[in-house]
Amino acid sequence: MKKILVTGANGQLGCEFRKLSKDEKFDFVFTDVDELDITDREACFKFFDRLKPAFVINCAAYTAVDRAESEKELAWKLNVDAVKNLKKASLEHDSYLIQLSSEYVFDGKLNVPYAEWNRTTPQSEYGKSKVGTEFEALCYYKSLVIRTSWLYSTFGNNFVKTMIKLGKERESLGVVFDQVGTPTYAEDLAAAILRIISQVASGERKFEEGVFHYSNEGVCSWYDFACAIMKLYGLKCKVYPILTENYPTPAKRPEYGVMNKAKIKSRYGIEINHWFSSLERMIESLKQSGF
Ligand SMILES: NC(=O)c1ccc[n+]([C@@H]2O[C@H](COP(=O)([O-])OP(=O)(O)OC[C@H]3O[C@@H](n4cnc5c(N)ncnc54)[C@H](OP(=O)(O)O)[C@@H]3O)[C@@H](O)[C@H]2O)c1
Repeated sequence: MKKILVTGANGQLGCEFRKLSKDEKFDFVFTDVDELDITDREACFKFFDRLKPAFVINCAAYTAVDRAESEKELAWKLNVDAVKNLKKASLEHDSYLIQLSSEYVFDGKLNVPYAEWNRTTPQSEYGKSKVGTEFEALCYYKSLVIRTSWLYSTFGNNFVKTMIKLGKERESLGVVFDQVGTPTYAEDLAAAILRIISQVASGERKFEEGVFHYSNEGVCSWYDFACAIMKLYGLKCKVYPILTENYPTPAKRPEYGVMNKAKIKSRYGIEINHWFSSLERMIESLKQSGF
């Protein structure tokens, strides 16, 4: 059985792989910082020597977008230097490397969905570090970079869970409406990545390296997203639209973060759910878990 190493496996996306791995015909090995600190070069080489993974999915990252403005070095260490470690270890063992990135590599000034070939113009330290992530991964010919956006899951902390918590406590809530993008249910993203790996492992499709965009289908603002969360969860909290200038954050976010996903659909035959139906599924799972 081919081995898949999932790093950062206690995070949102990593946990989705743990869930899906039960039905897969691969030998999964899940690690987080306690088992494999990917910023430790020697540890990476030793781990790869022992495991010899056929595929590596790096779900570990510095994801605190606002904190990155004041912790630039930490963000760089995990999002860039650690990816270099994984790339070099993958090269030594001929492993495929699947690396995650973000729509924050763009400045959000376009008004049509971003394609993979659009120039990267990050405006935050997090976005700059993700450009570094991509650079490191892409100099290896067996790597695939998947940019995603507005990731949420039943695991970890995210916008959906925050809105539900606030919706239970408050009667009303202001949410920005002048930033638009597409939410991504991490369960869908994990399934898409496993589909790519299965096709490559079985020889059904040739491996194509490079950058690919993946989010759910559709477009919404954070305000629309919050309204949908309240409605689907059955909360009475009234959501009202506010401008970004009335909700200042240390890191600048793209006003328009919608991505064109034609490439991943055509090259790897990936079908993508609309954000609303995926949110419905996620909220149903949350309710079943008693959240
Ligand atoms: N979240 C989003 O909205 C979003 C949007 C676009 C793209 N992405 C990208 O998608 C990917 C997955 O995001 P996510 O939301 O699933 O991330 P996440 O929930 O923050 O998970 C990251 C995991 O990596 C672990 N980690 C931290 N330092 C590590 C180290 N040195 N070695 C090994 N593991 C380490 C973290 O542990 P601790 O929690 O203990 O630090 C955490 O379990 C990332 O590349 C992210 O940049 C995310």
